[in-house]
Amino acid sequence: MLMVLRTTTSTTLWWLLLPSLLLISSLLLFKKGRRSIISRSSPSSTSSPSPSPTLPLGSLGWPLVGETIEFVSCAYSDRPETFINKRRALYGKVFKSHIFGNPTIVSTDAEVIKFILQSDAKSFVPSYPKSLTELMGKSSILLINGGLQRRIHGLVGAFFKSPHLKAQITRDMEKLVRESMAKWREDEAIFIQDETKNIAFQVLVKALISLDPGEEMELLKKQFQEFILGLMSLPIKLPGTQLYRSLRAKKEMVKLVRKLIRSKREEMNGTTTSIVSKDVIDVLLNDSSNQLTDELIADNMIDMMIPGEDSVPVLMTLAINYLSDCPAALKQLTDKDVSNNNFTPFGGGQRLCPGVDLARLEASIFLHHFVTQFRWVAEEDTIVNFPTVRMKRRMPVWVKRRDQQAL
Ligand code: HEM
Repeated sequence: MLMVLRTTTSTTLWWLLLPSLLLISSLLLFKKGRRSIISRSSPSSTSSPSPSPTLPLGSLGWPLVGETIEFVSCAYSDRPETFINKRRALYGKVFKSHIFGNPTIVSTDAEVIKFILQSDAKSFVPSYPKSLTELMGKSSILLINGGLQRRIHGLVGAFFKSPHLKAQITRDMEKLVRESMAKWREDEAIFIQDETKNIAFQVLVKALISLDPGEEMELLKKQFQEFILGLMSLPIKLPGTQLYRSLRAKKEMVKLVRKLIRSKREEMNGTTTSIVSKDVIDVLLNDSSNQLTDELIADNMIDMMIPGEDSVPVLMTLAINYLSDCPAALKQLTDKDVSNNNFTPFGGGQRLCPGVDLARLEASIFLHHFVTQFRWVAEEDTIVNFPTVRMKRRMPVWVKRRDQQAL
């Protein structure tokens, strides 16, 4: 059996697999018109230990470390695609390697990637780094397979597509964007990455657990930042390590979510009909399969906050970074919906991102307000690709309010 890192990556080997990484690599893919996917062979109990004759060309590198050092040093550089380009030139579009302790098959072939994404969950299953699985929890949707994954995916996806939720997201986004932008001054730099994180996180948390801005939200934000730092850390759980701190933060967040679940369960007690779902907790509590335990719901609520701190703000920040470098694109965009782009950084098949519409909606609203209300000059900054995608200096820009009449 082959285990595959289910992602749509580009010329980079971002097997870190958080949606933000998928996003950035997909942006690169968009630019360069190529796709790659990394897969790993699994230690299957039934298969024979001898190497399959169909393994592609490539090198497994050094004992134990394999090609990890070269992979990571390329990832940190400003040409992260070098790792793949070099090997593709030597071995072809699909090649073998050994990264982060595992034999890995890397595909840069669009057809192969499509096949993997569309295939059933029996042939290919996702695989993540150890720190990430520790922090996500064993019942996270990203880590489970089969019927339960499909069930949660379906429930969450349907809720995120509902007109009711889209209207709520639009209202929340408009409010938070206006409030943030009203505070922006023309005599100091605005850090786009911080602003977008603050907005996207609160909007998503509201949709997931109905928490409004306030003291609890601020505490959650702090804990969440600690949590996310551990996702790609050394898998050592000792006091003083990042993973230890991140696990502690997750525990606190789970406590908060479980408190919300308990009070919702009490509200539901005695009623036989399901309540109208206001948030994702309600959606999962209303499920009649009895498979969705409080632990599973709490773990998933925290994990689903990741795109609010990561993928969605990264999308917005990179879009503004791109527009800053490309005035022609900005001219075209001023009053167009950004969701019309035809690149697909949202995966595919059974794992297609259920938050795709939300992400596009949020990014459209932010970008619309930004480009129609401001002119701006961006300070020099660079994209960092590893271990997560971000702007090195948090993208400082100097803004000037546009004359609204002139629009
Ligand atoms: C720019 C923003 C986003 C990008 C680029 C993105 C990308 C992705 C990708 C590529 C996957 C597939 C991972 C795989 O193949 O295993 C995925 C899965 C997922 N995404 Fe997103 N995502 C974004 C925003 C969101 C938002 C706002 C949510 C809302 C909570 C969300 C929730 C999820 C969930 C729950 C899954 C797991 C689906 C499953 O395994 O069944 N994403 N995302």
